[in-house]
Amino acid sequence: MITATESRLAGLKQGIESRQARIGIVGMGYVGLPLALLFSGERFHVTGFDVEPIKVSTLNAGGSYIVRILPSEIKEAQRAGFLATADYSQIAQMDAVIICVPTPLNEHHEPDLSYVTGTVASIAPWLHEGQLIVLESTTYPGTTEEIVVPLLEGGNPNGVKVSRSLHQPGVHVAFSPEREDPGNTDVARHDIPKVVGGCGPAATELATAMYGTIFRRVVSVSSPAAAEMTKLLENIYRCVNIALVNELKQLCMRMGIDIHEVIDAAKTKPFGFQAFYPGPGLGGHCIPIDPFYLSWKAKQFDFRTRFIELAGEINTAMPYFVIEQIAAALNEHSKSIKGSKILVLGVAYKRDIDDLRESPSLTILELLREKGANVAYNDPYFPTVGHGRHYDLNMTNTPLDNLAQYDAVVIVTDHSDYDYKAIVEQSQLIVDTRNATKGIDSAKIVRC
Ligand SMILES: NC(=O)c1ccc[n+]([C@@H]2O[C@H](COP(=O)([O-])OP(=O)(O)OC[C@H]3O[C@@H](n4cnc5c(N)ncnc54)[C@H](O)[C@@H]3O)[C@@H](O)[C@H]2O)c1
Repeated sequence: MITATESRLAGLKQGIESRQARIGIVGMGYVGLPLALLFSGERFHVTGFDVEPIKVSTLNAGGSYIVRILPSEIKEAQRAGFLATADYSQIAQMDAVIICVPTPLNEHHEPDLSYVTGTVASIAPWLHEGQLIVLESTTYPGTTEEIVVPLLEGGNPNGVKVSRSLHQPGVHVAFSPEREDPGNTDVARHDIPKVVGGCGPAATELATAMYGTIFRRVVSVSSPAAAEMTKLLENIYRCVNIALVNELKQLCMRMGIDIHEVIDAAKTKPFGFQAFYPGPGLGGHCIPIDPFYLSWKAKQFDFRTRFIELAGEINTAMPYFVIEQIAAALNEHSKSIKGSKILVLGVAYKRDIDDLRESPSLTILELLREKGANVAYNDPYFPTVGHGRHYDLNMTNTPLDNLAQYDAVVIVTDHSDYDYKAIVEQSQLIVDTRNATKGIDSAKIVRC
């Protein structure tokens, strides 16, 4: 005989297949909004939840606040039923809820799960049996089981529990990491396999069915913790390898070897080597932060994650290394940083994106200012820069003209719209931290 639980499970699976299931996405940021558009594109009725009223009103007016998402895409989603709200009571109408809220570090460099716990506490009163709840925010292994599940169960007035088996009534809970690479147009979003790990087989089955509608491949693992750890392994792998090339770059500079030439040669090896590139330091909401979620958790197991700490040390020092290189380059022209006019090209944390979070440019701008430089910046994606890493910068975008007025132009973000040849021609001195001037032969360029 089919139990009520099995029948509800079959009902949601059928709702997913027929696109009748209603999907709620909490957190309409860089992760949540594109995800909402993907489901909407598959004809699902999607509701976006956010606590920022300006985001809710912009979306409902058919607008966008993320450069790479066009207002026309929001309007198209609206025609498929997409709407945004700050009203958590609407969670009760959802068949599946996906949480995509921030997971930063606090001032002690420890995980700040307050956005996750706040969201889960707001969802809990509106749970109903058979619903699927998925956490996508990057976090340490154990968060879903140790934090999310107790908060959901404890916050529900009707005593709804988390289902652990195909026969147990309750809500189904899973973790599924977001793997987007902002600005990367080489791989279509639906071609990035989606990893899911549920609290029990029913949760994994439902999450697999739901994501299977928008991703070509869903990879299920045995638990939420395995899925949480998968995401951290991926990001720590990047963080450690970037630190490695950043260290080798410094050695190569001392030895008079071009690290980029070396990487280009090494990457011709068809196996066992993946190219990573040096730069002015790490940025974004993921790579500089996520590894420390694991370091923090590891301490509970009397374990020191030494690779993470060493990589963090090297990568954090890179903006300071850039400042040393600017000082040395100016010195060659009998100038000092103090009193020099310096233009920083690019403040986004990487090429062609409108994301400033943890950007090394912010540290470089702050350090140049502290050392008495007269600093300006140019970035087509940011008309203004308010807060830096440690204090308010309050700067406005400087047009890319009269470059000869600057004692040095420092390329920190290699946006593809820049005409590097023209920039080199017009400038007195270029400090290039990204190899953006590759192929341009000029004594004005200092590559670091
Ligand atoms: N941005 C990326 O490229 C990327 C890639 C992979 C993973 N991630 C992870 O995804 C998660 C989200 O990152 P993001 O870049 O989208 O962050 P974001 O800051 O762009 O968006 C988060 C959104 O959540 C909203 N929010 C905060 N608290 C809320 C609450 N209680 N209820 C409803 N909405 C709330 C914020 O207003 C914001 O719009 C993080 O854990 C991040 O580490 C991000």
